[in-house]
Amino acid sequence: TRKIIIDTDPGQDDAVAILLALASPEEVEVLGITAVAGNVPLELTVRNARIVCELAGRRDVAVHAGCDRPMGRDLVTAEYIHGKTGLDGPVLPEPTMPLQEAHAVEFIIDTLRAQPEGSVTLCPLGPLTNIATAFQRAPEIVARVQEIVLMGGAYFEVGNVTPAAEFNIYVDPEAAEIVFKSGVPITVMPLDVTHKALTTRPRIEAFRDLGTDVGRAVAEWTDFFERFDMEKYGSEGGPLHDPCVIAYLIKPQLFSGRHVNVEIETQSDLTRGMTVADWWGVTDRAPNAMFMGDVDADGFFDLLTGRLARL
Ligand code: BDR
Ligand code: CA
Repeated sequence: TRKIIIDTDPGQDDAVAILLALASPEEVEVLGITAVAGNVPLELTVRNARIVCELAGRRDVAVHAGCDRPMGRDLVTAEYIHGKTGLDGPVLPEPTMPLQEAHAVEFIIDTLRAQPEGSVTLCPLGPLTNIATAFQRAPEIVARVQEIVLMGGAYFEVGNVTPAAEFNIYVDPEAAEIVFKSGVPITVMPLDVTHKALTTRPRIEAFRDLGTDVGRAVAEWTDFFERFDMEKYGSEGGPLHDPCVIAYLIKPQLFSGRHVNVEIETQSDLTRGMTVADWWGVTDRAPNAMFMGDVDADGFFDLLTGRLARL
């Protein structure tokens, strides 16, 4: 069992990722969920993280509020994709479970100090602000991280928020740069992977056919997501980005990629947040990340639906 911290800005796809993790206790133990500003402002990501835990019947999960804006820039949000609340789609009750007192950055630092060295995996599903702030504030924790498995970036698929950049990296490129230069083993789920994990009609119906509150909520979330992507990309369904991170922890053989050097563009306005991945090995820059490029999409959705059925 891997001990993980999910750092997230829910987001319908973040929500599905959280559910997948909570449904998979043999493979992952969720030490806590840290919310960050991203898809919507912090207040809403904190709310949404708690809604998802309650939907899973897990009021006991520790949810911490983190940074409310990027390290050195104004926050850019994505209501145009996720809706006004960030979690538009089904109507779910306002959360009543407790919010932890400790700031997310404090929780990340304290957890890495308290747990055995190399035993905690960080799973960022949003901008990397909380993680980079923790690394900056307590540099000694960096060497204690087992691995970072994150959703962010793109290489062949280039960008979704600008022609050059993927949203999570674009929002806080300085934070991303700190993380990618940290020396921690990193596994990246970029758009190259997530744009293959498409919520087609039959896959959404399989969620609904679970006949549970969770199944219905996931079907309605992915429905909401799909509407947007059908219009934008003309694809047969919306990409289910963030659950790829958790699926990797459960069944890594679903994914394939290359261990390459990845640098983050922080200077240019035009290409801000671009993940410059040396896929073809044309530089002598040392590899710093396992950059995934492909996923067995049917295997991924079988795993996801099977696990959601447990909730
Ligand atoms: C990423 O941005 C957010 O909109 C999604 O939740 C995902 O983490 C995809 O670019
Ligand atoms: Ca996200």
